[in-house]
Amino acid sequence: MATIKERDRQVIWHPYTPMKAWPEAIAITKGEGAYLYDEDGKKYVDAISSWWVNLHGHAHPYIAQKVSEQLAVLEHCIFAGFTHEPAVLLAERLLDILPGDMRKIFYSDNGSTAVEVALKMALQYWKNKGVKKTRIVALENAYHGDTFGAMSVSGRSVFTEAFTDLLFDVTFIPFPAKDQVSESIGILKEALQKGDVAALIVEPLVQGSAGMCMYSREVLDQYFRVAKKHNTLVIADEVMTGFGRTGKLFACDHITTAPDIVCLSKGLTGGSMPLGVTATTQAIFDAFYEDDRMKMLYHGHSFTGNPAICAAALASLDLLLADGCTEQRKHIAERHAAFAQTLAGHQLIADVRQTGTIIAIELKTDNPSYHHNMRDVLYRFFLEEGIIMRPLGNIIYLIPPYCITDEDLTYIYERIHKLLGQLNN
Ligand SMILES: Cc1ncc(COP(=O)(O)O)c(C=O)c1O
Repeated sequence: MATIKERDRQVIWHPYTPMKAWPEAIAITKGEGAYLYDEDGKKYVDAISSWWVNLHGHAHPYIAQKVSEQLAVLEHCIFAGFTHEPAVLLAERLLDILPGDMRKIFYSDNGSTAVEVALKMALQYWKNKGVKKTRIVALENAYHGDTFGAMSVSGRSVFTEAFTDLLFDVTFIPFPAKDQVSESIGILKEALQKGDVAALIVEPLVQGSAGMCMYSREVLDQYFRVAKKHNTLVIADEVMTGFGRTGKLFACDHITTAPDIVCLSKGLTGGSMPLGVTATTQAIFDAFYEDDRMKMLYHGHSFTGNPAICAAALASLDLLLADGCTEQRKHIAERHAAFAQTLAGHQLIADVRQTGTIIAIELKTDNPSYHHNMRDVLYRFFLEEGIIMRPLGNIIYLIPPYCITDEDLTYIYERIHKLLGQLNN
């Protein structure tokens, strides 16, 4: 009988996969805690939370139970003109914990749609008010998703190359690397002074896809303050940083200036099911609260507010807000910090950076890029060692589920040292 892997090859087109170079996918048949098991019974530690989504471990029994209970009562219903308790309760609970003064929750399907909604809200907010502000400012090398609006506000890269001419024009400011902070803020101010900027969008503190590039809370706060001073909306894309990854519940919790719009997905359901949230302030909602139907928000998806998915998110929040989980996140951050010290001054390493539970190790190379040939070598090395770790070019990083054990962290750290030893020879 054909294996899943063989059958897959006949019928599936995988995301972000060069299908000719990587025709074979590993078929996973079971998940448990931080582990995934393939069809041959091989066990892998999921060091990247399955594309940064998983918080509490795979196939978590509590989430499974809550979803199953909800499916038996109400699996789905149209969300225009109708509502249900899981969606309302989730909105209430999110508004309680989100940074700033968020008052309304708009549901969609994933991180990209959460960003699309945020952009549409910000642009139409000004249109509804009769103010001509149509420009978006974003950071160079940003990644906000793969739909056209989200691609437009993402840095131009191999991801967007085929569509460059079709993306809308955005002002990009330099990434605030330590020696570029004042340049970055200066260019932001220049852009804002033109008076046509509807919104600034950023990945707060950590730019994920760019290579886990990190910047300080002071810079983040300054971006927000400068934008607000120029009457520009601030969109915080917390799709990756949300739900504890950076040490606090949200990256924006590290600063005092509040965003106007927050985008969430990934960890929102503990990584169990797809859901996007765009949270916003009363002032933005009010700009759409008009008799004129041309001022409403024309956006929605068939599965908006799906009750079973909201139940998954509610269950994940229960687990996330428990004391044990806070302790675990702190512990992971401490372990990462101690590990970083063991790498200090290593001749193959250009940089080690950490924010909360995320640690990135940038290997030295003359020509860093997403398709760097070192990438496949690293990826294969970790798979052989039973670790799922998808390097971003020459950058290795860990963003583990919070349930990861001390032994597994130690194992991963040791394998990274082993890799460095092999690369040295
Ligand atoms: C910061 C950020 N925004 C948006 C997205 C897009 O999310 P999704 O893949 O769910 O569409 C991602 C995905 O990695 C992300 O990291």
